[in-house]
Amino acid sequence: MITLAGVWGEEPHGLVFVAEGLPLNICVVGTGYVGLVTGSCFADKGNKVWCVDIDEKRVAMLKRGESPIYEEGLAEMITRNSAEGRLFFSTDIADGLTDADLCFIAVGTPPTENGETDLAQVLSVADSIGLHIRKGCFIVVKSTVPVGTGRLVCDKIGVHLRERGIKAPVEILSNPEFLKEGRAIHDCLNPDRVVVGAVSEEAKAAMRELYSSFVEEDRIIFMDPASAEITKYAANAMLAVRISFMNEIARLCDAVGGDVSAVRSGIASDRRIGEYFLNAGCGYGGSCFPKDVQSLCRVGEGCGVEMTVTSAIEKVNRNQKRVLPIMVRRRFGQDLTGLNIAVLGLAFKPGTDDMREAPSITLINDLVEHGADITAFDPIAEDNAKSVLPGSVKYARSAGEAITGADAAVLVAEWPEFGSIDWARAGSHMKGKILFDGRNMYEPQTIKNLGFEYYCIGRNCAVR
Ligand SMILES: NC(=O)c1ccc[n+]([C@@H]2O[C@H](COP(=O)([O-])OP(=O)(O)OC[C@H]3O[C@@H](n4cnc5c(N)ncnc54)[C@H](O)[C@@H]3O)[C@@H](O)[C@H]2O)c1
Repeated sequence: MITLAGVWGEEPHGLVFVAEGLPLNICVVGTGYVGLVTGSCFADKGNKVWCVDIDEKRVAMLKRGESPIYEEGLAEMITRNSAEGRLFFSTDIADGLTDADLCFIAVGTPPTENGETDLAQVLSVADSIGLHIRKGCFIVVKSTVPVGTGRLVCDKIGVHLRERGIKAPVEILSNPEFLKEGRAIHDCLNPDRVVVGAVSEEAKAAMRELYSSFVEEDRIIFMDPASAEITKYAANAMLAVRISFMNEIARLCDAVGGDVSAVRSGIASDRRIGEYFLNAGCGYGGSCFPKDVQSLCRVGEGCGVEMTVTSAIEKVNRNQKRVLPIMVRRRFGQDLTGLNIAVLGLAFKPGTDDMREAPSITLINDLVEHGADITAFDPIAEDNAKSVLPGSVKYARSAGEAITGADAAVLVAEWPEFGSIDWARAGSHMKGKILFDGRNMYEPQTIKNLGFEYYCIGRNCAVR
């Protein structure tokens, strides 16, 4: 009899985990920002890790020791762990499953057109696991998935095992990931906490064994799998609500005369509020907040729970992404024909090459539609940007080159190196000394003293 029980819970599943210390044998499916970083970090801690992806080009690059994504320190970590015989890559999940104690699912969960979560990648991995698994294994869902997905993964694997007559006991766990792109290696190696949704004591022991080299044991928070799935969405929605709330306050400041930076210091000093995720700006982007907030709304609606706060977050953010293009058009008029506008920072935030939902996309599409010529610069996101931005956009090799000859510059992502731009010098090479600062990176008076028109978010420097 196949005992798939532990799978999502109820009966004993027959998996025995004996804690003998590292190394564990680990398979990570999906080598994107999450899978590749966590897989490499697991290997760096001494485990034997197979990273599996269906993207042949990606796997070929990884086998050559090249990282298909940019994260500081990642390429070196891949090279070192591959050379030391702990990190392997394959397009065949069977390679990864052969000895695996734990198999992590870390594939994408993009939004569908109506904002629900598209589970096709996750369920396809569940199919592959069911078709290739030969021995008992803990299956750990690391992808961000709506509550109840673990159950679906369990059912899919179970169908295949029954068809194959294989008595491989498995249990499905939830272990959502909280790393931030741009600091992914650091976050993975030093997590604030590790959330684990598990049922059996064996599963908990295996996760404790793996993660006790990353965090103190009391920072591994065990809960039921459904709560773990919800925790990830609740955390992202909470962070997104803080950003959207401050953006709303910034709009109020611009309307009535106030400085959102001062308001921020005033409220952040309250320990109950704290200082994080309170910066006003031109809206959040990325592969997580936008889709996770939408997904949470759809899950709520699907079961009759009105998600009033959560749906407002998304609406505020959509409007906030329009603030910069509207500012530019208020300053120059609706017809931007013949204007050359420099855009600094294209990725959704500094430190990453990820363009998903980046505010620069909304800005540039709008300006191009209104006739502007765009010269853009991003330290690392240019290749990804080319596939999502209009073909007419020109790319500069430096911020200085982008700004030279421009009628105005718009800063969208606050790369630290933009903090040291010599605007006095840059201004002398611009056609118009006009700077729109979408991230409140500069001190308004300092830039104005250089003879610039300076516009920013919620600090009494809006175009009126
Ligand atoms: N990117 C982040 O900052 C972040 C942070 C926390 C959580 N997450 C969540 O983690 C998950 C992965 O995100 P990501 O940004 O790493 O995604 P990604 O799109 O960068 O990578 C997904 C990878 O999975 C591969 N893949 C797809 N189907 C596959 C299959 N059947 N078998 C093997 N490989 C397959 C793809 O080829 C791709 O390389 C998502 O659910 C996301 O919401 C992302």
